[in-house]
Amino acid sequence: MKVAVIGAGTMGHGIAQLFAMNGYEVFLVDVNEEVVRTALQKIEKSLDKFVKKQMITGKESVLEKIKTSTNFNDAKDVDLVVEAASEKQEIKKKIFENLDQICKKETILASNTSSIPITKLGNFTKRPEKVIGLHFFNPPQIMKLVEVILGEKTSPETKNKVIEISENLGKTPVTVIDSPAFVTSRLIMIMINEAVQCLYEKIATKEDIDTAMKLGMNHPMGPLELADLVGLDIVLAIVNTMYEGFKDEKYKPSPLLVEKVEKGELGRKTGKGFYDYEK
Ligand code: CAA
Repeated sequence: MKVAVIGAGTMGHGIAQLFAMNGYEVFLVDVNEEVVRTALQKIEKSLDKFVKKQMITGKESVLEKIKTSTNFNDAKDVDLVVEAASEKQEIKKKIFENLDQICKKETILASNTSSIPITKLGNFTKRPEKVIGLHFFNPPQIMKLVEVILGEKTSPETKNKVIEISENLGKTPVTVIDSPAFVTSRLIMIMINEAVQCLYEKIATKEDIDTAMKLGMNHPMGPLELADLVGLDIVLAIVNTMYEGFKDEKYKPSPLLVEKVEKGELGRKTGKGFYDYEK
């Protein structure tokens, strides 16, 4: 089975690696050559960790399953596309329209979106029954969950196939009906937004907010560390999707979150978010 991953950024490179590690032939497609180069470096670095832990025998056999491209046409013969481009509806609209034209009619078009309605993405194509959400978690190589999101017209065949593929990848799928931010983003982003608001109100330091959730709730990362991992622009996009989708003040983004994104302090990927990182 051949897979194309569209977008080689924070999530795309990890998703491509995951498929290749599980025996799939992968095209990793991104319009930006520099992003593709960086993605391959990150994949190599991650594979080194798996080799060190003897979870794979060598990285060459995985790397040779990944072909990179800056041309969408290379996705034309694949059986599954996982779109992991920017969390912007306009961009995803163009990609889904494009993929619908390019890919063979049997191809399933999945999106790794954290919050954009799958029904909308399906309606950008002439094959909404083959459009589905396949939501991975950062880092996708090791997080055990995938959220499978059903649009209004997603067919049972598409759902079953995507669940089977998720299990082949060693993941546990949960199925969710399309709704703003689905289940995982809806729960985690309201916590992150509230943590940012605590910091904005200066009721605790960022370190203490994170420590509270790590030691008090056994979370592996504090909410502000997690926001930096996910990307503050992505966090803001998801919180805005919930705010607009539910029309409820409880989802209003914290002014500090908006300010950080305006300043370009987006987290690990820019070297600065709530914390500083080596680039
Ligand atoms: N590739 C390979 N292995 C990796 C890796 C990668 N990219 N990143 C981490 N690892 C491995 C490490 O090698 C390490 O392995 P060992 O324990 O066997 O040595 C293990 O994972 C733990 O890593 P670290 O020691 O570096 O650090 P850690 O213990 O803090 O774990 C973490 C890192 C797994 C990311 C952990 O902190 C964690 O689970 N954090 C929460 C992540 C989370 O909540 N993700 C979901 C975000 S929301 C999302 O993604 C959805 C969305 O739409 C926004």
